[in-house]
Amino acid sequence: MRLVLLGPPGAGKGTQASAIVKKYNIPHISTGDIFRENIKQGTELGKKAKEYIDKGLLVPDDIVVSIVKDRILEEDCKNGFLLDGFPRTLNQGEALDDELSQMNLKLDKVININVEKEVLIERTIGRRICKDCGATYHIKFNPPVKEGICDNCGGKLYQRDDDTQETIEKRIEVYQKQTKPLIDYYTKKGLILNVDGTKKISEIFDEIVEALEG
Ligand code: AP5
Ligand code: MG
Repeated sequence: MRLVLLGPPGAGKGTQASAIVKKYNIPHISTGDIFRENIKQGTELGKKAKEYIDKGLLVPDDIVVSIVKDRILEEDCKNGFLLDGFPRTLNQGEALDDELSQMNLKLDKVININVEKEVLIERTIGRRICKDCGATYHIKFNPPVKEGICDNCGGKLYQRDDDTQETIEKRIEVYQKQTKPLIDYYTKKGLILNVDGTKKISEIFDEIVEALEG
């Protein structure tokens, strides 16, 4: 299964991605996670990406596209993959289509998670992430059993640098301008699966699975 998760910042892409990849046993490819890992390791890519991420702007297409092209050629993507946060511009969408058609492959579905702006801000500001395993929590909507500590691995929870009110507002604006046109792009291709991202995490997941299998 080859899937894309589309949606504004804080819509719940990462949250749903974790459950989907577990169920279908496919790799979770989050361009945001790849950049954060590179920032943590202090690589050249990380330094470059940080300049954009901290401002709430998109990393240039050529950088992102070449990372994803290489990644989907890897052995573990043979039976499918889930792209989370890629593509994010029409340019990226077309580049992905070109690459897949060269590989004689096609996307199966593009899952579009809809959530209104006010909710997105509350979700991102309250988000906490495990330093060790990357599990995502929310101080109000999805809290860990013990405050500040990951349920899965006992790691410390932290807040993303780009989860400030100001940066989130910028990220939402960037989404509206640069990413939203992809909804139309994939709707025309008959690939869109629209889901209401304001429901409960488990309800959204059940809806996605039903649509993928139905
Ligand atoms: P990225 O890491 O992809 O961030 P994003 O798109 O802004 O999305 P988020 O990760 O913030 O939100 P999410 O939808 O995953 O929500 P989550 O599940 O965590 O990208 C970061 C940056 O990297 C970009 O700004 C850009 O600079 C760069 N970048 C990345 N990809 C790029 C690309 N392709 N091109 C160019 N630049 C790129 O959930 C959010 C919170 O809500 C959590 O606390 C969660 O617990 C909670 N929650 C989730 N679902 C629910 C629910 N149903 N009910 C209540 N709470 C919920
Ligand atoms: Mg995410």
